[in-house]
Amino acid sequence: MKVVSSIIQMRKITRTLAADRKKIGLVPTMGFLHEGHLSLIRRAVRFSDIVIVSIFVNPAQFAPDEDFEAYPRDEKNDINKIKSTGGDIVFIPKVSDIYPDNFQTYVDVEIIAKSLEGKSRPLHFRGVTTIVAKLFNITRPDIAVFGLKDYQQAIVIRQMTRDLGLPIKIIIAPTVREKDGLAMSSRNCYFNPEQRKEAVCLYESLRIAKRAVKDEKIIDSAVLKGRMIKLIQSICPTAEIDYIAFTDFESIIPVKKVNKNTICSLAVKIHGVRLIDNMKMTGRGQLL
Ligand code: PAF
Repeated sequence: MKVVSSIIQMRKITRTLAADRKKIGLVPTMGFLHEGHLSLIRRAVRFSDIVIVSIFVNPAQFAPDEDFEAYPRDEKNDINKIKSTGGDIVFIPKVSDIYPDNFQTYVDVEIIAKSLEGKSRPLHFRGVTTIVAKLFNITRPDIAVFGLKDYQQAIVIRQMTRDLGLPIKIIIAPTVREKDGLAMSSRNCYFNPEQRKEAVCLYESLRIAKRAVKDEKIIDSAVLKGRMIKLIQSICPTAEIDYIAFTDFESIIPVKKVNKNTICSLAVKIHGVRLIDNMKMTGRGQLL
């Protein structure tokens, strides 16, 4: 397995791979890899000949009051994990190469990037789409894999890919959860054991909403949201709910009545750590 940090070298490698008709898969990450990331790598291995995993904590997607500096990093461990999961190349560019002096061009998806996460974190998706567009440009993948946990991010990236006419298939892979249901996230490491127990309230609230749809045939989003808030507060009384939203999976337009395309997503601050999660409200999967 190769570890590459130079953009020029990365481009050379991918050009050669493309000339050899190799199918390139890209898994963009910010490092501090957990089982969720590894499942994305495994998926990329399944669908491509060569898998590139990028590690780049992207300053452009963090607001000044967010955790860019504190964001957990462990490159050595990440490289080992990528190797043992079947990755072929780890790309770790430098911030100063990605954003050289006088950098002033951003990729900005409009409508679907402005609600939910985009509303709470106004420049977040602009940062995400800019770095992902740059990574796509440098590595020229045939496929790229993103996690459903960051569902809006995946939809926004897919939109960008379509709008810019990039010949890349975007694969969205299922959320990987801890035993108790908490969605895996690099930020889970911020919790002490007591706080960590309370963090399960996100998953539990999604689960009771889905159960209410299935068993009680409740489809009114406001009613479901009320139940979710109650449950979150009963598990974590200090939780700060940023949003709980029932939207159409593709368009991210809010829905009053749950239907087969509805996803519920939420962002909640648990003891100062902002977590997000989501669940399709009908159909199979994501119910432990
Ligand atoms: O999901 C993430 O880890 C990041 O937002 C991504 C896609 C790697 C872009 O920095």
